[in-house]
Amino acid sequence: MNISEIELLNEKLKNKSPEEVIEHFIKLFGNRIALSSSLGAEDQVLTHMACNIDKNVRIFTLDTGRLFPETYELIDKTCKHYNTQIEIFFPDHQQVECMVKEKGINLFYDSVENRKLCCNVRKIEPLKRAFAGLGAWICGLRKDQSVTRFYSKLVEWDEVNKLVKINPLINWTEQQVWDYIRINNIPYNALHDKNFPSIGCQPCTRAIVTGEDIRAGRWWWEQPEQRECGLHKK
Ligand code: ADX
Ligand code: SF4
Repeated sequence: MNISEIELLNEKLKNKSPEEVIEHFIKLFGNRIALSSSLGAEDQVLTHMACNIDKNVRIFTLDTGRLFPETYELIDKTCKHYNTQIEIFFPDHQQVECMVKEKGINLFYDSVENRKLCCNVRKIEPLKRAFAGLGAWICGLRKDQSVTRFYSKLVEWDEVNKLVKINPLINWTEQQVWDYIRINNIPYNALHDKNFPSIGCQPCTRAIVTGEDIRAGRWWWEQPEQRECGLHKK
């Protein structure tokens, strides 16, 4: 798909609901589309919507090996709740062993470079494998999540991965996400009730305090502009 086709889709779909957007792209791409889920609140909303539209929709998650126990519980609960199978991609064990041998088990605290290396080994390399055969991926990005996401659009051309990227909740607020979860009784990560609005790997996520930004607990020791793992590179 070229840039002008993407622009046209943005124009055509700008007033549609997230459900309508998801349905449009499931019809367009068939089994060449997948939802990339971290099991976060937004992703649970998308899982609910996508499973209602097509119970065989592909959903995958990247298990970095450093997730919270609560996240594993939610993977299991979600699969049962929606009678679906979330495909789980793991890092390459040789790359992890080599990295840990050279840089240590908690290398990410030592430098931004180390942190990016770990995200590459534990997330980006498995993501490339998850993309095999795909033409599009669906993500849970929202504009007001962070400075790094302000310019994201509903439909984007992901040049790095040569895929169409769809962000059906791009214009939703946090309040809309939670209202939808409550109204539809959607299972969610128990950590959300303990001041973890944004959840990634356990060593790189902490609870936030009142007044802090919703992503303040992610890689909190780094500058806000650096707090992306590379999944959403432009
Ligand atoms: S991150 O890049 O900082 O980790 P965030 O947690 O905000 O991302 O999630 C944004 C979107 O990236 C999610 O809605 C989801 O689509 C995708 N994503 C993030 N982490 C994962 C993961 N572990 N597995 C699959 N998709 C993920
Ligand atoms: Fe590694 Fe932390 Fe990135 Fe997870 S978030 S892959 S533990 S650096």
